[in-house]
Amino acid sequence: MESKRPVVLYGASGFSGRLVAEFLREYNVPFIAAGRSRAKIEDVMNHVPGIETANYEIVEVGGSVEELTALFSGAKVVCNTVGPFIYNGPRVLEASLKAGCHYLDISGEQVWIREIAEKWSAKFAAKGLLAAPGTAFMSAMSDAAARLCLESAAIDTIETLTMFKGIPTFGSTQTIFAVIQTDGCYLEQSQYKPWPRVTRYDAAVPGYIQTQLALAWGGFPQPVWFKDHPQVANVRSIGGLLDRQIMEGVAATEKLFEEQIRPLPKPEQERKLAEMASSVQGSTPPRENTREQRTIDVVVGRGSTDYVQCVIFGTCCYRQTGLIQAFAAHNLVHTPPRKVGFASAAEAFGHREVLKVVESYGLAKAKIYS
Ligand SMILES: NC(=O)c1ccc[n+]([C@@H]2O[C@H](COP(=O)([O-])OP(=O)(O)OC[C@H]3O[C@@H](n4cnc5c(N)ncnc54)[C@H](OP(=O)(O)O)[C@@H]3O)[C@@H](O)[C@H]2O)c1
Repeated sequence: MESKRPVVLYGASGFSGRLVAEFLREYNVPFIAAGRSRAKIEDVMNHVPGIETANYEIVEVGGSVEELTALFSGAKVVCNTVGPFIYNGPRVLEASLKAGCHYLDISGEQVWIREIAEKWSAKFAAKGLLAAPGTAFMSAMSDAAARLCLESAAIDTIETLTMFKGIPTFGSTQTIFAVIQTDGCYLEQSQYKPWPRVTRYDAAVPGYIQTQLALAWGGFPQPVWFKDHPQVANVRSIGGLLDRQIMEGVAATEKLFEEQIRPLPKPEQERKLAEMASSVQGSTPPRENTREQRTIDVVVGRGSTDYVQCVIFGTCCYRQTGLIQAFAAHNLVHTPPRKVGFASAAEAFGHREVLKVVESYGLAKAKIYS
């Protein structure tokens, strides 16, 4: 009998899922393309370039912890691309732990990242397993850049800005709206402090003449990744799309949420946010184009007498995400992570390694200024 394939890609029919599949094929990692609809996964997989040379099978699976545990058992790594993760993450994470699998996802929602750090990390560590949410363009790249900055200057304060030009997918749009209900935090003297609600930040972005509109967007993962860091005490992360019109729309929705939706019961809040997101993006955008879908990460590090800045100019945020996931899964198939329990991709696989792999595919280039 053929042994179980080592990687389960859950959410294989999604825009990001298909890109993870594309890069798992490049890494020659055998995988199970899983999700709630066999027909949808088949259709999507048939369009993945070169998929005929991949070692994979398709499995339709129900969404309960029991069904997912049964599917994951015998595999080594779960790649979860089913968002919003504040809604869909817990059952997949629990099933991964029960099945004895390393857990990776492509989330960016700070409350979800924090839940894993505070409630799940020790359980994964006890089994020698990694739980690495946020193993994706946003915010693994800026996290790796921040750790590069830490090598070259005596800094204790980090600010990050991550922005991309592109068309958010159905799942991304649902997530952008879902996080509006959550309270994001920054880190001040190693303590979480809530970002003020409904606040806009004008950002001067290298490579652009006009300022860009950025938001705290639920806080981003970095404050959680650096919460107990021995050197870093202050972390603020903001970001958004390199499209002022879209960002004005998100900022207006944040305001509307505070005025009209927050007073409603929680399920009603979630329903209204999902409805609004669906009216903005109800379908799947076309494949990214390197010459159009640009990305930028800016990391500024400051100490009492020192300063360093790292800027990553890149392209195609969803392809970066597919590559980072596949790189991480490939690593875990072959070797234990550098850290078990909760960790960022940079901590688990090396920040230079994460940056180099994305650079090697021509999807990003990091520059240090000090
Ligand atoms: N941090 C980053 O840089 C980054 C990058 C990319 C994406 N993301 C996040 O990743 C998530 C997915 O994005 P995407 O672009 O792949 O979205 P997408 O194209 O809409 O795909 C979503 C996937 O999730 C599945 N799904 C949704 N709800 C489900 C449920 N209740 N049960 C089982 N499967 C479910 C969908 O299955 P069906 O096809 O059956 O509907 C589909 O496979 C979003 O939260 C997005 O914000 C983050």
